[in-house]
Amino acid sequence: MSRTVIRGGLVITAADEIHADVLIEDGRIAALAASGTPAAEAFTAERTLDATGKYVIPGGVDAHTHMEMPFGGTRASDTFETGTRAAAWGGTTTIVDFAVQSVGSSLREGLDAWHAKAEGTCAIDYGFHMIVSEVNQETLKEMDLLVEEGVTSFKQFMAYPGVFYSDDGQILRAMQRAAGNGGLIMMHAENGIAIDVLIEQALERGETAPRHHGEVRKALLEAEATHRAIRLAQVAGAPLYVVHVSAQEAVAELTRARDEGLPVFGETCPQYLFLSADNLAEPGFEGARYVCSTPLRPKEHQAALWKGLRTDDLQVVSTDHCPFCFTGQKELGRGDFSRIPNGIPGVENRMDLLHQAVVDGHISRRRWIEIACAAPARMFGLYPKKGTIAPGSDADIVLYDPHAEQVVSAETHHMNVDYSAYEGRRLTGRVETVLSRGELVITEREYTGRAGHGVYLPRSTCQYLG
Ligand code: URP
Ligand code: ZN
Ligand code: ZN
Ligand code: ZN
Repeated sequence: MSRTVIRGGLVITAADEIHADVLIEDGRIAALAASGTPAAEAFTAERTLDATGKYVIPGGVDAHTHMEMPFGGTRASDTFETGTRAAAWGGTTTIVDFAVQSVGSSLREGLDAWHAKAEGTCAIDYGFHMIVSEVNQETLKEMDLLVEEGVTSFKQFMAYPGVFYSDDGQILRAMQRAAGNGGLIMMHAENGIAIDVLIEQALERGETAPRHHGEVRKALLEAEATHRAIRLAQVAGAPLYVVHVSAQEAVAELTRARDEGLPVFGETCPQYLFLSADNLAEPGFEGARYVCSTPLRPKEHQAALWKGLRTDDLQVVSTDHCPFCFTGQKELGRGDFSRIPNGIPGVENRMDLLHQAVVDGHISRRRWIEIACAAPARMFGLYPKKGTIAPGSDADIVLYDPHAEQVVSAETHHMNVDYSAYEGRRLTGRVETVLSRGELVITEREYTGRAGHGVYLPRSTCQYLG
């Protein structure tokens, strides 16, 4: 038996804050006891980690990543190996990535391909959602099988006609299936048919710069699609999780649905909380770094996102980590914003940015842990194995220094991408040490993990339901 004890830190979970020592046995949390008490003194271990002055928090759960995803004529630049290592550096110990069904293939083929990419390469544990690109009798049946084997959530797109797009009938059928098998539909809610018209018209007017990406992907078209997805889910009797919510009008749709008592959930991402359309409007082609969908919005939208996170009308902050290098990848869209690969890197930055939100007074410390660890674990059937510090849980733990100062930069980050969307930003707080199932992955700001430590996580169904 291997034992580690973490002494003297402030243990923060979504429920509690307590000065406690944490005993780890064979990769799991065995016990907690208030520091300095006889119960804590009785903990014995081969290894002691001193957490005096530090926070002891659950490892982050990032429920929305796209490692090495083919998209926009290229491929996301982080592999499972580089991306999960960067995640660990940033205090995230679980990712749920999106396996993709290619048009003309089965869900099974897509899932097998994603297993093959990830297996033996990850520094931290990982699960999969499934992107459903084609709804037909076969794929609907496959959804049942996937839920049984632990792929319990399915992403559909109201955007990207000709790529991932599903029409309302296909969405309704998938939702009906999810209502029957316990799956959770995750929706990319933007009216892609209307957006494609606006893209064509903008390009005809010679509006080719990155900022026009934000202008044509209108907040109203996010809100409209969000409304439509909510009502289709209501008709199907299915729960709904709306991904990467950025528009205040979309938050209002979620708030209204939740006030009606519907099982509707929302996710936002750090880029919508900390960046804005001003970044897209940086001179020349510089704004290409910030092209993602839904797009960055004018700053005025941020207040509604923060409020939604405080009122629980938004439950989860994930990254939608989908990195493309500026050189050679974002540049594919010089002269035509619609060809800029969509996505922003951030898997390494999420926990720190959200800690900064604590420092800035947007959310409490416990809410930080709720939206970054506990809620995503519950939403996607991983709780309490992941997302908390409690006896029996996996010992996925971060020792976090709340007073350390850092400046975010591509020079020092570990993601395989040639820029940082947060370049130059000063943050208070930094990850010091990270354990994954009791093994040291980051030790006092040194990487001590290994590719292949991370294991695949079959998941149960959404734990907010039933
Ligand atoms: O721009 C984004 N979000 N890229 C990743 C794909 C998606 O829609 O989540
Ligand atoms: Zn999306
Ligand atoms: Zn409400
Ligand atoms: Zn995404």
